[in-house]
Amino acid sequence: MKLSPPLSALLPLLLAAIASAAPQAASSAPSFTITATVTASSLSAAPTLSSPPVSTSIASSVSASVPNSSAEPSVSISTASSVSASSESGSASLSLSSFSISASASGSAVSSAAPTFNTGAGTETGIIFPSITPQSFTPFPIPSDTPIPNTFPETDPSSPPPVSDSGKVVPDFAQAWKAAYSKAKARVSKWTLEQKVNATTGVGWMGGLCVGNIPPIGDWDGLCLEDSPLGVRFADFVTAFPTGVNTAATFNRTMMRIRGEFMGAEHKGKGVHVALGPMMNMGRIAQGGRNWEGFGADPFLTGEAAYETILGMQASGVQACAKHFINNEQEHKRTQSSSNVDDRTQHEIYAHPFLRSVQAGVASVMCSYNLINDTYACDNDKLMNDVLKREFGFQGYVMSDWSAQHTTESAMTGLDMTMPGDITFNSGDSYFGGNLTAYVKNGTIPESRVDDMATRILAAWYYLGQDKRYPKVNFNAFHTLDPATNKHVDVQEDHFTIVRAIGAASTVLLKNTRHALPLNKPRSVVLVGNDAGPARNGPNGFGDRGGDDGILAMGWGSGTAQFPYLISPLEAIQTRARKDRSLVSWFLNNFDLNGAANAVQQQDVALVFVSADSGEGYITVDGNEGDRKNLTLWQNADNLIQTVANNNENTVVVVNSVGPAIVEPWIDHPNVTAVLWAGLSGQEAGNSIADVLYGAFNPSGRLPYTIAKRPEDYSAQLVLGGGPDDILSIPYDEGLAIDYRHFDAAGIEPRFEFGFGLSYTTFKYSNLQIARVSHSDHTSSSFESLWAQGKAAPPSPGSSAAIWLHRPAVQLKFDITNTGKVPGGEIAQVYVQHPKGAGEPPNVLKGFKDVLVGVGQTKTVEVTLSRYDLSVWDTVQQGWVRPKGDIKFAVGQSSREFRLRGTVPL
Ligand code: BGC
Repeated sequence: MKLSPPLSALLPLLLAAIASAAPQAASSAPSFTITATVTASSLSAAPTLSSPPVSTSIASSVSASVPNSSAEPSVSISTASSVSASSESGSASLSLSSFSISASASGSAVSSAAPTFNTGAGTETGIIFPSITPQSFTPFPIPSDTPIPNTFPETDPSSPPPVSDSGKVVPDFAQAWKAAYSKAKARVSKWTLEQKVNATTGVGWMGGLCVGNIPPIGDWDGLCLEDSPLGVRFADFVTAFPTGVNTAATFNRTMMRIRGEFMGAEHKGKGVHVALGPMMNMGRIAQGGRNWEGFGADPFLTGEAAYETILGMQASGVQACAKHFINNEQEHKRTQSSSNVDDRTQHEIYAHPFLRSVQAGVASVMCSYNLINDTYACDNDKLMNDVLKREFGFQGYVMSDWSAQHTTESAMTGLDMTMPGDITFNSGDSYFGGNLTAYVKNGTIPESRVDDMATRILAAWYYLGQDKRYPKVNFNAFHTLDPATNKHVDVQEDHFTIVRAIGAASTVLLKNTRHALPLNKPRSVVLVGNDAGPARNGPNGFGDRGGDDGILAMGWGSGTAQFPYLISPLEAIQTRARKDRSLVSWFLNNFDLNGAANAVQQQDVALVFVSADSGEGYITVDGNEGDRKNLTLWQNADNLIQTVANNNENTVVVVNSVGPAIVEPWIDHPNVTAVLWAGLSGQEAGNSIADVLYGAFNPSGRLPYTIAKRPEDYSAQLVLGGGPDDILSIPYDEGLAIDYRHFDAAGIEPRFEFGFGLSYTTFKYSNLQIARVSHSDHTSSSFESLWAQGKAAPPSPGSSAAIWLHRPAVQLKFDITNTGKVPGGEIAQVYVQHPKGAGEPPNVLKGFKDVLVGVGQTKTVEVTLSRYDLSVWDTVQQGWVRPKGDIKFAVGQSSREFRLRGTVPL
């Protein structure tokens, strides 16, 4: 079979045709639908193939689905001996002699189709490592924009600007960095090469009191690095804060900031210098094990949450760490997979939260375990040097994730610190340490680069004022009962108040019929489900929370903390029942359906509590190796809910889930009168849920991801498979179309869309006003006019963070009136709609504002958009450009419920 270019356009069609015609492996019932796509990225780019090993230059992916079966099909594609390519004078041809696909599965029939999984097909090139040739180094210039009074104030991280209504005031930390750099340089200049190298090299796994430790050098005490993004891990007398995903669901910048500030204060109180969070990976796949640590599936929301969290944490004096840089979107084979991402998608989706972190003045960034486009993240010159340090103007340091470093040359590709220091845990050697010293001595790595590494690390320490009376480390992460090293310092203060408030504000009301909620002094309440009560072995019964028993309030892995206590719904509701004089009963066994049916008879309301859990890949729970193996609720939940609903006509479902879950088996049951999506909200979980159930808090939380009707409706799936030595390829073929962007673009009806959430009251939107924002600073007017013509400003250090690009350019004002009977909070959302030719998804979130409105009251909301918010990344010009045509926007209550529309006057 001969093909002419454009090969890339024809190939998928061709292979789909072949796949459907191909003889399929003999299979027993049920029967299969097999679809195959082969992306010929390298072929289309270079029609110069003479005799390449085509089997490795074609990235293949194949998926199979088994209708009406719960089976997960096992599928393999074989192209190795059957595909060849050749090129003659600029045109490419491809011949396919045969093509075989085999698939097998077994399983029982269920009502919804099993998820479609892809298997990765290895790297295209093999792993690309940095070169070992001697190199020169010049530190990147520190971008220093002239501060513009009242708009971008010169700022010290200890006193960041107040939370801005529009979210568009970018603080200028340049002077604070400059002062820190000069102190750091002075100190580093007195250090020997070995001392400088020591500042970059952790002491080794479990070699100190914290999960990561930089040793003392001279009169400098070194550093303590400690997890997690929701509190101080492995310590007592600390607060277990709500997860990142719940914090995002509040869409409330003030809460994000306060949580950051309190977490920062607790880390500082324990003597931690560097708190290993926030985590800002994107929830690209719904099954992603660590999604709950992050801020949902939209880059803008994630970026705002990262920005506020970092400003809060660093205001308390602790160094924040933006992680994991970058494309660490699944747990399966996280150290042996290459996320293959195009430049535009990287900039607009995955790198954006890191840019916002740099704008928040973040002190450190953690490079991730995975490879990106066949190069390990911690070896990745393009991402660490070009994007993070040059284009974003990052002034702090990059540390490796724990054992994510692969070469000593990574010093030249932008890595500044290795954690925990040894090559593998307790291996006793290091890629930095003695090896880095040797590389400097033999001339491979210039000493000026080691100066830069040590300077960046010390500058971050000065920048946060950690040279001034910082507490000594007073806990021992690895020996929490050792009396000599654990001082059990109580750092909790009254931080539980924000935990409870965020828990309530992040709870999303998904369904409410027949005025089921709020509860009004019910005569009798029955709580059903294991998730309603306390865990049998206490809140910390599973190491790193690796198990699911009782109320689920965080996932598992390194992103956790010890609960000081954990309020279950059962406790909270009983406390309330005493006041209301309600009868309370409960039935916590999920598998005894007859028992559940009996327990809910003639009760005024049956509250069913269900969960779905996930976590980091080093722990497997019930066959879930970090990532979720499916999107169904755990512990027989669907059957439990249906049983209760069949036996009680006022069934209220409360879901504690790490992310989206399929609710189709019961969501339309007429007796399921209300559904609360409560996420994972930390130590006050039961109280927060009760606050919403009883109307003490009028729900205002919004979904930070889409809940689909079917797993296969999501644009990206978990990539499974791979032998012990294989590198999986994870093609980010969906590009910009993750989560709601895909559902909108493909016209797929979700069950509940991104940004959705009900209230106990109703709101009216009106009176939209649109204005350009003028300013008196003309230093960058040439860039602004280039932008207006659709051209990019030339790339330069810090160009993606430039003030002209990020200052408010358009102001939207509109009114929100509370038209219901109770006061309530509304989350107004602004979605930009780019002109057709821009290649953008139909709606992209670029603004939100929480507003509390009294009954009958009207409040005016203001949201500003910057030129950056209106831009797309131009891969040829390597800059942010305005797409040609009218840019429109829609304002509303969710990504689909629009109330006001307008056109951008720029
Ligand atoms: C995780 C990081 C964590 C580190 C230290 C790694 O396995 O990926 O998020 O900060 O361990 O515990």
